[in-house]
Amino acid sequence: MSVQTSHMADDIARDFADRLLGWYDRSARVLPWRIAPNSGGVPDPYRIWLAEVMLQQTTVAAVAGYFARFTERWPTVADLAAADDADVMAAWAGLGYYARARNLLACTRAVVRDHGGIFPDSEAALRALPGIGDYTAASVAAIAFGRAAVVVDANIERVIARHRLIETPLPMAKREIRAALAPLVPTDRPGDFAQALMDLGATVCTPRSPACATCPLMTDCRARGRADIERLPVKPPKKAKPHRHGLAHWIERDAQVWLVRRPGKGMLGGMRALPGGDWSDARPSESGIVSVDHGFTHFDLTLTLVRRDAPPQGPDAAAEGRWWPIADLDAAGLPTLYRKLTDKMLERDA
Ligand code: ADE
Repeated sequence: MSVQTSHMADDIARDFADRLLGWYDRSARVLPWRIAPNSGGVPDPYRIWLAEVMLQQTTVAAVAGYFARFTERWPTVADLAAADDADVMAAWAGLGYYARARNLLACTRAVVRDHGGIFPDSEAALRALPGIGDYTAASVAAIAFGRAAVVVDANIERVIARHRLIETPLPMAKREIRAALAPLVPTDRPGDFAQALMDLGATVCTPRSPACATCPLMTDCRARGRADIERLPVKPPKKAKPHRHGLAHWIERDAQVWLVRRPGKGMLGGMRALPGGDWSDARPSESGIVSVDHGFTHFDLTLTLVRRDAPPQGPDAAAEGRWWPIADLDAAGLPTLYRKLTDKMLERDA
């Protein structure tokens, strides 16, 4: 790039950031983990990190209650590091992607053990912590530490793919989107810049019916006014999801039900659950009391509840099992799949 074109590129980037940040100053959402723009507040890296981990693959609305409960019960990274795994898994129940809850604990313990309880402040050092991937490292570096990291989530992908009319389908488009965004990130307010793009994607540049007339990036948006703007970013062709089936066991005695803890690794790892068999492609031959359908990322599951008289015998089978009062099942920390099944069962019983 010649000196002159690089000056032009700088001007374009500054203008883009100014329009976006001006809009953010007026329109930023008020969020429990967020420092309002120009408020002079200092972000707490623990709260920023916790929010970013919770917000992956989930909406702001779904996260708010969990964030409040976690930060009330475990206000610092040291508090969470010292928590019982079972308590944290139960508090996470319903948020999904349970490997993230296990990594959450591993991360707090690494911060306490290796960093004296203080989150490291660079993208690379954050990336080296358990459970912190490219997205979380970049977002925490930008929002908590003011680093000019390139933050790309699904909302930001949509905004940039439209602004630049990137026609390459996802996930291949990710490189182009990142390359388009990188030179636009300002060094002065990179955290607000990232959050402004997130808010713009969530409230203006929405998947359906974007409100282009109110968008600060409208003047040079290449997709503006196109009838097919909703097509962008171009999605990959949908793969048919496999459908699996499974049985869960309802073993009841004296107003209590037998619950187990699932093995640490794998689907719903470490979570409390109803006992049952493996999930497979074959429809079970037994017809059950109730059944529920549940969508996981990579397959759909029909889980059918059948009665059994007694818990499985043997020391191994019993090790992770216990009787739980049915009246207190809400407190068991069951993930949504089992929660749906027990709700349906108890509704039927009532
Ligand atoms: N989604 C993920 N992180 C977010 C943030 N910091 N603000 C708003 N939406 C988000």
